[in-house]
Amino acid sequence: MTEKIKLTQYSHGAGCGCKIAPDVLEKILKSDSEGIVDEKLLVGNSTKDDAAVYDLGNGTALISTVDFFMPIVDDAFDFGRIASANAISDVYAMGGKPLLATALLGWPINKLPAELAQQVIEGARSVCNEAGITLAGGHSIDTLEPMFGLSVNGLAPVKHIKKNSAAKEGDLIYITKPLGVGILATALKRGVLNEEHQNLFIEQLSQLNKIGEKIGTLDYVNAMTDITGFGLLGHLIEITEGAGLSAELNYSDVPVIRGIEEYTSKMIVPDNMYRNWNSYEKKVKDIGAQSFFTLNDPQTNGGLMITVSKENKADFEGFLSSNGLKLYAKPIGKITAKNEFCIVINN
Ligand code: CO
Ligand code: CO
Repeated sequence: MTEKIKLTQYSHGAGCGCKIAPDVLEKILKSDSEGIVDEKLLVGNSTKDDAAVYDLGNGTALISTVDFFMPIVDDAFDFGRIASANAISDVYAMGGKPLLATALLGWPINKLPAELAQQVIEGARSVCNEAGITLAGGHSIDTLEPMFGLSVNGLAPVKHIKKNSAAKEGDLIYITKPLGVGILATALKRGVLNEEHQNLFIEQLSQLNKIGEKIGTLDYVNAMTDITGFGLLGHLIEITEGAGLSAELNYSDVPVIRGIEEYTSKMIVPDNMYRNWNSYEKKVKDIGAQSFFTLNDPQTNGGLMITVSKENKADFEGFLSSNGLKLYAKPIGKITAKNEFCIVINN
């Protein structure tokens, strides 16, 4: 019996921490060519949204997204589940219902057995089942590091589409999962993740953001996105810049995975946390010693971040509570008029 293969040892990055830094991405996406202006494209890449949205002309919109990364966990089946839940999340983050998925697989055929790749796909199938969709095809190539993800299409009534750029002044901000999975991923990779956190980690990472589809039906929700590789700050900056507004965060109200200090106190944190911070530090005022770690932490399949008209506070909190999210039925801050900073933090 050979020793069990640990997938994270074959990847230099982990999960959404593989993302290219926001400032570098901006350089890559820069273009001087004009391109086609398609009026039916309701959401393209100009607002850094979760997915592209295309008006089908009958009141319905097609939502299209793709996401893939290197292993964030050692087990192949779990890696497939997590990468899939993370990719499908971008459809939910637009307020849509997933329709079908196709797979993208990169596998170092000379280093890792094909049977393991089969388990990755099996994990993907199980999450697609949970989301009520079929894994309908895909493409695979021989790569130096293992990677996996999905291209996912979804549908939603045009009026249910939730952009990340439509926040309004005075909106309250909510999130639906605690922060800190990037820190746990680093602890896992270094072999120091405690058992309690190991279970919580896999569970949170493979949990679908299905609630986003229901949130799409709520008129008083103005903006929505999911928190992934750029951390809470990076994705909230996308919301504020998209709307031409700013935000205020109350750090003590931000849900964080319990016991995370066990790792941050020993500086067991992802490198990409610093990279995230370097990309946007000038846009953020008053980061604190602890908020630095959690608000910059790259999340994989993180929670949804939602902005809600303040008049509907009670409605939305009731909605969250009756959908099993009572713990998150509390605003973490609010959208304000534009000021010198994108985000001001009250520690
Ligand atoms: Co997203
Ligand atoms: Co994405």
